Amino acid sequence: MTFPKDFLWGGATAANQYEGGYLSGGKGPSTLDAITGGSHTKPRMITYKTKDGKIETCGRGDALPEGAVGYIDPETYYPSHVATDFYHHYKEDIALFAEMGFKCFRLSIAWSRICPKGTKEVNEEGLSFYDNVFDELLSHGIEPIVTINHFDIPMYLADELDGWSSRETIDHFLFFCETLFTRYKNKVKYWMTFNEINFLRSWTQIGIHDNSKQSKYQAAHHLFVASGKAVTLGHQINPDFKIGMMVAYIPSYPMSCKPEDVMEALTFNREQEFYMDVQVKGYYPKHKLKEFEREGITIKKEAGDDAIIASGTVDYIGFSYYMSTVSASDPTDVKYVGGNQMPAVKNPYLEESEWGWAVDPLGLRIALCKLEDRYHIPLFVVENGFGAVDKVEADGTIQDDYRIDYFKKHIAAMKDAVELDGVDLIGYTPWGCIDIVSAGTGEMKKRYGFIYVDMDDEGNGTLKRSKKKSFDWYQKVIATNGENLTEM
Ligand code: BG6
Repeated sequence: MTFPKDFLWGGATAANQYEGGYLSGGKGPSTLDAITGGSHTKPRMITYKTKDGKIETCGRGDALPEGAVGYIDPETYYPSHVATDFYHHYKEDIALFAEMGFKCFRLSIAWSRICPKGTKEVNEEGLSFYDNVFDELLSHGIEPIVTINHFDIPMYLADELDGWSSRETIDHFLFFCETLFTRYKNKVKYWMTFNEINFLRSWTQIGIHDNSKQSKYQAAHHLFVASGKAVTLGHQINPDFKIGMMVAYIPSYPMSCKPEDVMEALTFNREQEFYMDVQVKGYYPKHKLKEFEREGITIKKEAGDDAIIASGTVDYIGFSYYMSTVSASDPTDVKYVGGNQMPAVKNPYLEESEWGWAVDPLGLRIALCKLEDRYHIPLFVVENGFGAVDKVEADGTIQDDYRIDYFKKHIAAMKDAVELDGVDLIGYTPWGCIDIVSAGTGEMKKRYGFIYVDMDDEGNGTLKRSKKKSFDWYQKVIATNGENLTEM
């Protein structure tokens, strides 16, 4: 057997894309509840109110004007409000995960379900919801893997404190973590602090109104301190906790062996590795300090911050891997294709999904080797998958062979990394194991699941669940601990 016998096979989701029930059971609004749907060609928008009371919209990554606050327009459709309604379907969904043989399930907690404003007021009904979810998972022998915060912030903290640009947000987040760690200390062992910390930016994700590089890195410093404190606190509450960080890893190849292209790729990769360096090694790498110095970026730190970061290093690296990109020193020379949260450069040796994401299974092995060589702590592929349009046939079946093909090749690449390179890989949770809203475009049409959910881009549908062909295939993969990737 290549994979360890306790390998964590499962699937992954996030509250804002899956849970729905956006104001049910005492939940408060979060920034993502004011973000519209979109498509390939239509960007997702923020609806907001200016300080003079005017209702406006802007792109989901844009800066909100000073004093503007999030606004939920009763006439507008927002995908997070119902999403695919895990809130009301969790028992049925968990039964399906169990049928596939999941050993674990990655979900995120909606911060504003536990603390409706993000402050120190707790919503007991929110806590019991997750108690029920964890109990249901555990009753099926499924280990919960919890992302504490995935891509949003309670709207109140964004509007009143300017989100993560304020130091005060650290304390609110710590209170949230302490509430979770204490309440679920006997139910949850695996945690991750922030989803894709390297992609966190703007009002939508971290509640800040100013998108300058200075603000971005000041907010990142607050996230690092918060994460460091959370890791230390979690270990005090339960020394058996495994608390990881989470990064979006998109390895970049040099366009050619021209040294300038190689330097360009190094710089691109280093930006992602920066977040791992801080959270795994416990200090800012020298190149980042030099960059701050050159660009006049000053990070306001308090005495003790460096020690908090140094002592709160993580137990494992969770990362998403969907695609790779290419770096070229001459930007006039390149063609752009789609990509995860940013455009990527076309690699002439690879094909792309319908959304333009390069399909590169060997890139996953390369990523695993690189992270193993660099950090020497356990690795967990907590997101990987193929977003595609699925067709429901007249007989109700969904023949998603393209998805099976994608997974086959990526799991084979992980096997090589474990067997041939000795990578310490602890688990694999394919993204959107049941159809959920796309984070990038807000669409339902871009589906990742083994389980189909009847819901469209405008929020119409019965929410009925049905198994795709990949459901049976993944069930077999798990049953054979990844040995049988071909037979159905
Ligand atoms: C990751 C995020 O960036 O990619 C998920 O952690 C997201 O939230 C996933 O859904 C896939 O991206 P998309 O845009 O296809 O949903």
